[in-house]
Amino acid sequence: MTEEALLRISQRWARRLLILAPAALTILFAACSDPQTTIEPRSDMTEAIQGVYEIVFWLSMFVFVAIMLLTLWLAVRYREQPGREAIQIHGHQRLEILWTIIPVAIVLIMLVPTWQVIADTTDTPPENSMVVEATGKQWWFEFKYPDLGITTANELHVQAGRPVHVKLYADDVIHSFWIPQLAGKVDMVPGHENDLWFTPNDDSAREEAYLGQCVEFCGASHANMRFRVFVHDEAGFNAWAENELSDALEPTTELGQLGATLFVVRCAECHTVRGTAASIADFGPDLTHIGSRETIAAGILDNNFENLVKWISNPAEIKPGIEPENDIIDKDPPLRFMRAFEDEISAEDIQAIAQYLTELK
Ligand code: CUA
Repeated sequence: MTEEALLRISQRWARRLLILAPAALTILFAACSDPQTTIEPRSDMTEAIQGVYEIVFWLSMFVFVAIMLLTLWLAVRYREQPGREAIQIHGHQRLEILWTIIPVAIVLIMLVPTWQVIADTTDTPPENSMVVEATGKQWWFEFKYPDLGITTANELHVQAGRPVHVKLYADDVIHSFWIPQLAGKVDMVPGHENDLWFTPNDDSAREEAYLGQCVEFCGASHANMRFRVFVHDEAGFNAWAENELSDALEPTTELGQLGATLFVVRCAECHTVRGTAASIADFGPDLTHIGSRETIAAGILDNNFENLVKWISNPAEIKPGIEPENDIIDKDPPLRFMRAFEDEISAEDIQAIAQYLTELK
């Protein structure tokens, strides 16, 4: 085969790939059960944003179709014909004014509602809001409910129809808070408070959580910094809050009891389990009720015994960047990462700690 023929074949394949790749991706994403979609808003904030988006979309659609039709019509109507000469319109005042005014009008139609939504969503939060302090850390989210005295991680629980005022902070670097169907994006900046608020629609029948994630590049595991938002009815929310407020449960299995003892020695340096001797540190997520969470490792793994064992054994394998050599202890607050405990304790001990955690419902 000649070089030229080869080149032609490879060009043909490149073209095919260009056409097929988007189609394959579309099918792949359509298969996801709960995409992080912005076009199915489920709160007042995201509905307002969607309203602006729709105006912009239909205006752009109108402009696109109008220009295409006009181009087509002009091309046919004024095509080259024998004996016909083009008229020059340079400096035609009426036309100049017309095609200045139309785009200005279109931009104004987009500007006014956009401005309105920005004003509405950055005004003061409603009086009856539930306050949540969300802190971005490398690489997880801490959620505190100051009025309720609850501290949890990576799973935010809210009430349908009740405004939530999220105060956004960061401990180390800039993160950003986004729940595509409910709220955001707003940056979480060290040493500075940002605010956002939203009222979730009445989705209390829905069991599935909404997906949220960090949307500001914040280091090696930025993509592994996710969270979930559960929308409850009033009774459901109160039941969750009541459980969160209670002290940790006593482990009932023998393995779990061994795990509880080991936890105090090995894990209390960074984690808290309220109601036990391990209730001082707050570097890592509060684990008092970790057994009741759906996921671990900031939404990366399902919460079960096997995954807990895997996580405790070598967390850096799941979340690159949390190798202990990246610790900066003399920083304020110190930056600390989860160690690989398979280097320090036996596999049996790791299993005991994992068992204990599953029992902390
Ligand atoms: Cu935190 Cu990206």
